[in-house]
Amino acid sequence: MTDTLTIARPDDWHVHLRDGDMLRDVTQYTARQFGRAIVMPNLSPPVTNTASAEAYRERILAAVPQGVDFTPLMTCYLTDTTDAADLVRGAEQGVFTAAKLYPANATTNSAHGVSNVHNLYPVLDAMEKAGIVLCIHGEVTDHDIDVFDREAEFIERHLRSIVADFPKLKVIFEHITTSDAVDFVMASPDNVAATITPQHLHFNRNAMLVGGIQPHAYCLPVAKREEHRLALRAAATSGSPKFFLGTDSAPHRREDKESDCGCAGIFNAPYALESYLAVFDDEGALDKFEGFASLHGPAFYGLPVSPERVTLTRTGTEVPRIMQAAGSEIVPFHASQNLSWAVQT
Ligand code: NCD
Ligand code: ZN
Repeated sequence: MTDTLTIARPDDWHVHLRDGDMLRDVTQYTARQFGRAIVMPNLSPPVTNTASAEAYRERILAAVPQGVDFTPLMTCYLTDTTDAADLVRGAEQGVFTAAKLYPANATTNSAHGVSNVHNLYPVLDAMEKAGIVLCIHGEVTDHDIDVFDREAEFIERHLRSIVADFPKLKVIFEHITTSDAVDFVMASPDNVAATITPQHLHFNRNAMLVGGIQPHAYCLPVAKREEHRLALRAAATSGSPKFFLGTDSAPHRREDKESDCGCAGIFNAPYALESYLAVFDDEGALDKFEGFASLHGPAFYGLPVSPERVTLTRTGTEVPRIMQAAGSEIVPFHASQNLSWAVQT
């Protein structure tokens, strides 16, 4: 049995670090586990231009603990009025690594999102030419579509045409939750990839709804049926370079989750690597973990693999029931559970 794994230092290709007190308190977890992270721009107001992204990057760097080496990679929140010239300039200046497409009202702080993907075509054209990665929250928001079908419907209504109309655009179908998404990405050319969260590998929709409403298992896109979880596990552990790590760690105060209108988002940053590794271990795919966590993402983005190494050992991690952030309690993913691996520090 393998009890020790040493790999290139992983990156998180999708994380919410928030702002203010929450940023101050949660950034440490991502910075300790990951060398770089693609930071989501869904602040309120969102990060929609180079100047606000530069300012946000400074605030993030100020929250990184001393002596910890961490590079936040910034994203531009696309809107109906995105200035393509500013986005391209921001990318040339090294501020932007990617741009994020939220369909309007798909999720937390997405009211400014894109109302009609066709309005965005001039921006996507500029991104394709400049080599800027497009990160997509792939869910339709049409009220007539069942919440469990919103990802699959997004493929048919939007993603297929975006990928066909911009054949050189690098597209990441983020936090995928369905076998439909796995199949779409597998059938697409090399410029189309996907990230997968730890929660969607660990649980199906029962986790939200059985034994009472479980607000800490609620995130968007919502977990789907078991057959979809199994497809995600197979994709993540397949060794295909099209699938890589993106935690979608999305902290919310406990009172905002345990409420009559609970927020979507799971705070998984503190034990993200231990969580993913449990899946790879269960699947007998420890040899595929480095690719998923540390190699496929940089290859897709055209960035160097981290020269640092991290070691994980089968010594176990106890996840606390509650953590503290932003003057509140916050419930981490796997609260009160034991995970069999630990990151060596
Ligand atoms: C995210 C958040 O809280 O910002 N929530 C979530 O459930 N994943 C937004 C998002 O990425 O959809
Ligand atoms: Zn997210």
